Amino acid sequence: MKRFENKVALVTGSSQGIGAACALRLASEGADIILNGRKLDERGDGILKQITDMGQRATFLEADVSDYHNVVKLVNDAVKVYGKLDILVNNAGVEKNHNFWEVTEEDYDFVMDTNLKGVFFGIQAYVKYCIAEKRTGVVVNMSSVHEEIVFPHFSPYCASKGALKMLTRNLATELAPLNIRINNVAPGAIATPINKSLLENKEQLESVLKNIPMKKLGKPEDVAAVVSFLASEDAAYVTGSTYFVDGGLTYHYEEQ
Ligand code: NAI
Ligand code: BGC
Repeated sequence: MKRFENKVALVTGSSQGIGAACALRLASEGADIILNGRKLDERGDGILKQITDMGQRATFLEADVSDYHNVVKLVNDAVKVYGKLDILVNNAGVEKNHNFWEVTEEDYDFVMDTNLKGVFFGIQAYVKYCIAEKRTGVVVNMSSVHEEIVFPHFSPYCASKGALKMLTRNLATELAPLNIRINNVAPGAIATPINKSLLENKEQLESVLKNIPMKKLGKPEDVAAVVSFLASEDAAYVTGSTYFVDGGLTYHYEEQ
């Protein structure tokens, strides 16, 4: 029996990178999938096809999760597609590289609205649905090692992921009586398009690898495996935690 047989999962920002890997992993374990992105393009089409080729159902819902009305509608529409929503994976996220003193209000809103506001109100819409249907629920948020460690020149990003850490802890306590579990996954440096400039800069990449005890970047699939665990009944007693998937990056210390 597959872990997610008869389950439906919504994965935000799932046309590429970690979100796509999460969608594929959950589908490989039997889930029907609601994919999401701002626009359906050939990348989203490709993921849809891979999922239906596995024998699972998949639907793509266009929505910009940084917008309150869009993210609420996304969750409500996701429930309607296959009649229920068992798993919510808040994966969509963005970052911008700026000196702190050069960050504009627009830069700040872009990052915070996607990484925090969209997650906050997406979870709220999901919890309202669970309450209305008197059902249990599971939420996994894509945080980052930067919910814990610094990332100079990415202040809004760090602020958004740090806030996700406390949001998850707070909600774990508040939602446990409703039988809704919520956890964070905190990836380290993963080879995805978000790290395009890092992957193209040999010097910078070497300097990043020096900080990673396993001396390699992670793969989206490494992250998806942990998301899948947290979304499953194998994690039935896990809530309010952050699972690091970082090759040892976060608590790394070495004397030369
Ligand atoms: P990515 O840039 O490859 O993929 C992000 C996806 O989210 C894209 O498909 C993008 O179009 C979508 N997206 C962005 N804003 C959106 C919005 N407003 N509405 C709907 N979709 C939106 O990035 P990656 O690496 O796959 O990142 C996924 C998550 O993992 C993010 O939350 C990121 O912060 C987090 N993360 C990534 C790490 C990495 O090293 N790649 C490390 C730690 C965390
Ligand atoms: C960022 C990546 C970065 C990684 C490790 C992630 O949260 O999105 O750009 O490489 O953390 O620093």
